[in-house]
Amino acid sequence: MPEAESPASDEQRYQAEIPMQTPGFFLKGCGQLDWGMKNRLARVFDPKSGRTVMLAVDHGYFQGPTTGLERMDLNIVPLAPLCDALFCTRGILRSTIPADNRQPVVLRASGGPSILKELSNEEIAMDIEDAIRLNAAGIGIQVFIGGEFETRSVHNMTKLVDMGNRYGMPVMAVTAVGKDMVRDARYFRLACRICAELGAHYVKTYFVPDGFGTITASCPVPIVMAGGKKLPELEALTMAYRAVQEGASGVDMGRNIFQSDAPKAMIAAIREVVHNNMKPARAFDLYRGLKAKKGA
Ligand code: R5P
Repeated sequence: MPEAESPASDEQRYQAEIPMQTPGFFLKGCGQLDWGMKNRLARVFDPKSGRTVMLAVDHGYFQGPTTGLERMDLNIVPLAPLCDALFCTRGILRSTIPADNRQPVVLRASGGPSILKELSNEEIAMDIEDAIRLNAAGIGIQVFIGGEFETRSVHNMTKLVDMGNRYGMPVMAVTAVGKDMVRDARYFRLACRICAELGAHYVKTYFVPDGFGTITASCPVPIVMAGGKKLPELEALTMAYRAVQEGASGVDMGRNIFQSDAPKAMIAAIREVVHNNMKPARAFDLYRGLKAKKGA
């Protein structure tokens, strides 16, 4: 039976101003994981800041060569050393990312439908052994709460979590939103919490301007913010700033970096916001300064 609306305010219910304690490890909810799992998480999340700047370039798995990812050898390989972790498919990793890349890699592990079909109809699309063979620091999977194939996508995630737990491989659940679905704090609280309850080691979700702190507060594992559609740079920096100030453990951004007219400058500015709490206006100045220099 659906829960009745609580008369208490969100502030009273979620107490977002009180961060969850993280005994045993620097990431919330991860203190009781195994050594290998923690070690992989510590490759993706910087233990100093407790946060990460992941570069999401996996879009081709259902979108093909989308804007900014037409030539990953030319556009993405030069950006890879600037992120904390690359989120990509195994196909791009093997074909295009040089094996001397030192950045950790989180591999997209779901797939099936293209943009021409119902996206929630996904399957697990990678064997855990291949992720280990590729020295992955994690695997990621889409979860479609409220989608047509909700149960299938949730069970895909739980199967992947079982495999991940067996081998010490953290699983990132990505809360996917259908075209016509409401994107508000209530929905993302529901989606993120379901992913965490069913075993995801961290969750990637979208920013909402109202109540993002209640999403992070009610999710007992780290949340990384997905970037979403391309925004003007100052807006994207402001969104990232607000997300980490409101409890996100970093970002996993794609289009707002690789579709920027100065991707290297943008990722440098995002890094300052995420790791050093730089204010958006200052980070935007940094972006503009770097953009003015050749090769940004
Ligand atoms: C989501 O379906 C994609 O797999 C991307 O990983 C995700 O959307 C993040 O990229 P962006 O910041 O472009 O939204």
